[in-house]
Amino acid sequence: MTAPKYHLTSYGCQMNKLDSELVESKLRQRGYEPAATEAEASVVLLNTCSVRQHAEDRVWSKLGKLRIRKRSDPSLVVGVLGCMAQEHKRYLVSRMPHVDLVVGPSAFGDIDDTVEMARSRNAQIAAEREPAKTRHEVQGAGVVTVGQGVSGDLIRRDVRVRPHRSQAFVSVMRGCNMPCTYCIVPTTRGDEVSRPIVDLVEEAQRLCDDGVTEITLLGQTVNAYGRDLTGQNATLARLLRALHEIPSLRRLAFITSHPNFLNQELVDAMAELPKVARYLHLPVQSGSNAVLKAMRRGYTVERYLARLDMLRSKAPDIELHSDFIVGYPGETAADFEATVDLVNRVGFAQSYVFKYSPRPGTLAAELPDDVPDAEKERRNHVLLAAQEALTWQHNRALVGKTTEVLVEGVSKVDGRLSGRTAHHRLVHFASQDMDLVGQYVPVLVTEALAHSVVGDLLATTAAQEGAHDRSEVVHP
Ligand code: SAH
Ligand code: SF4
Ligand code: F3S
Repeated sequence: MTAPKYHLTSYGCQMNKLDSELVESKLRQRGYEPAATEAEASVVLLNTCSVRQHAEDRVWSKLGKLRIRKRSDPSLVVGVLGCMAQEHKRYLVSRMPHVDLVVGPSAFGDIDDTVEMARSRNAQIAAEREPAKTRHEVQGAGVVTVGQGVSGDLIRRDVRVRPHRSQAFVSVMRGCNMPCTYCIVPTTRGDEVSRPIVDLVEEAQRLCDDGVTEITLLGQTVNAYGRDLTGQNATLARLLRALHEIPSLRRLAFITSHPNFLNQELVDAMAELPKVARYLHLPVQSGSNAVLKAMRRGYTVERYLARLDMLRSKAPDIELHSDFIVGYPGETAADFEATVDLVNRVGFAQSYVFKYSPRPGTLAAELPDDVPDAEKERRNHVLLAAQEALTWQHNRALVGKTTEVLVEGVSKVDGRLSGRTAHHRLVHFASQDMDLVGQYVPVLVTEALAHSVVGDLLATTAAQEGAHDRSEVVHP
């Protein structure tokens, strides 16, 4: 008998993608195989995101298509996992009979059992069904698991199941305790739960033993790591120092940081530890104090800038990344201009800009969504243009310099190899040598593009021997 095939799509953040890896590893251990295309899969799983309406709409539309497919293929198993499963469990269970499983984040511990149950049940339904009935909807009995917990973390991770040979994500905490008025994540992910340092070191060590050289730590407020672990003296800085000891680890990054928890201890660690990535994702969301206050972000523009001064005085080579929301309720044109000013003043290397999307159940959703969509669109466009000009300046400053690149794979655009610098800058270079994937190579940057740079591969020995060269730029 051939192995049953699954197809799993992630719609959310890095944490959502890491959860997908966990689900995949459970399914593979159970004898399932990944399908080449969704159409070939007998189990279709959607790992979903609720952060903006657009993310949810993609899933609703996919579920509409799967409903049609299931009319002619009643053995198909459809699963909704992740944040929408948490947020819309009642609707999914009561109104979407073609959905067999609804599994919230962190309830993935026995996902393989749940999938297996649904599969055998649907196979039975399909076998019993007479051809005349094929046009009817299958009324699933609803194999449903919804919940939050730490079970995801209690599963010992199978480190071999990961998308990249030399790169891996490690979730250091789940949930979020911040009160941001617009955000659904604390509802879907629950309270902050940090994992002990010893567990994280053990997992990282096993990843590195299996060939990983770059680890990115994940948390919604990753620099608040450990505050729930009373008496253990666990902080992100201490965790970075512990992981830094792993000899074969070469790069150590962490996302996403909250401005309120950027402190001297973390700045010192970033300044002192050569393996720590040279960028900091520190979303400011807005450059207007009125909007920041309305969002309950807990800082002012002045305080944000003061934290950056602290960082830059100790670690001037760190580049900054941010997220922005435009069109928050009550955001005036002047508020928005203050955001554009802040972007230019800080000179972020990269930013994500989002149009405000009301999330039912959040505090902000009680307010009138009063910035018209056309105006949100305009602000989005203006802010992106300001950021792109800055990104291009950052990219242009690299031209003529040699930088160390961790090769990630073949670029989708033109078949060249591509990878990232310690500053997370995307670099493309011509080479047919697939053996370079996973290696650290020196590249002489020759051209700056909007979102990446192009360069020439130099002889590889220098970078391979000079492990942990902390600076992105080594003058030739
Ligand atoms: N924990 C991280 C990221 C959370 S979600 C942080 O605090 O920075 C990623 C980004 O989505 C946020 O930084 C924010 O810019 C954006 N976002 C969150 N809720 C949103 C909403 N309701 N509408 C538009 N953008 C939103
Ligand atoms: Fe959402 Fe704020 Fe938590 Fe980030 S810090 S996940 S924006 S509530
Ligand atoms: Fe989305 Fe959930 Fe991540 S809402 S951003 S998948 S935590």
